[in-house]
Amino acid sequence: MEIRERILELKRKKNVIILGHYYQIPEIQDISDYVGDSLALAQQAAQTDKSIILFCGVHFMGETAKILNPDKKVIIPDLNAGCSLADSCPYDEFKKFKDNYPDHIVISYINCSAEIKTLSDIICTSGNALQIVNSLPKDQKIIFAPDKNLGGYINRMTGRNMVLYHGSCEVHDLLTAEYTLKMKQKYPDHLLIAHPECNDAVLQIADYVGSTQGMIKYVKQSSCKKFLVATENGILHKLQADNPDKEFVVVTQKESCACNDCRHMKLNTMEKVLASLEEEKYEINLDEETIINAKRPIEKMLSLSKQLGLIK
Ligand code: 13P
Ligand code: SF4
Repeated sequence: MEIRERILELKRKKNVIILGHYYQIPEIQDISDYVGDSLALAQQAAQTDKSIILFCGVHFMGETAKILNPDKKVIIPDLNAGCSLADSCPYDEFKKFKDNYPDHIVISYINCSAEIKTLSDIICTSGNALQIVNSLPKDQKIIFAPDKNLGGYINRMTGRNMVLYHGSCEVHDLLTAEYTLKMKQKYPDHLLIAHPECNDAVLQIADYVGSTQGMIKYVKQSSCKKFLVATENGILHKLQADNPDKEFVVVTQKESCACNDCRHMKLNTMEKVLASLEEEKYEINLDEETIINAKRPIEKMLSLSKQLGLIK
């Protein structure tokens, strides 16, 4: 039997839901029950009635699913699939940083560890960060962590002055305005779409800035047929499936490099997904106190997102 069929059979037999992020390889996206960006996947994890959640993404996503489903088994295909952005914000360092601003609330991007979530008041994703910040009183003092690029973008869009922690994503942050401008010159008919984890100089020259889901929606609705895409490679699978008549060129750091493949996301393979289902590994476990304290800001995000009409 083909590996794909074996995965699908085991998934049915063991009552497993497979959640896959858009940055997974196309084969994994195709066997997932639900493919989405961080916000949609968190919502799916919160709603599922399946007994096992297999999260094909990176470690913090598995943790989020576990926090929302402490009584369920949550497994991921490779324990080493971390995230440079989450790793750029260690607990002790962030705790010290936060202690410098006792009258600030903490909004943390979902790309952080469960421990950082326990120090946060509200979690956000790139799909709801702008609206969540806008929903707070203008004079609310805010620390935004860990992504300085997303935080800086929100500051610019809202006119706020949130205190930014200095983390970043190694995939998005390395794109430069200099080389992106060269690509714009080479592809003058293409619209440039960019994820807000890119640095400000790239975002300033983009025609559209938005989350993974935001970019997917924008391209579908656009009358333009050609796009330069400044984010992780995996999004192309969905963009091409939705828009067979449109052309996409991925923005890279320099000529012919594979820098926009997230090395963490791409650790997951079909073989590892199968082994994960067979042996029900690698299980995410968190202590009860961490779960209770990390759940509060995630639930706050989900309820605010519902109130703001961003999710159903
Ligand atoms: P979104 O899925 O929220 O767009 O985030 C992108 C990302 O970097 C996930 O790790
Ligand atoms: Fe983390 Fe960046 Fe990879 Fe997303 S793309 S998982 S933020 S390293």
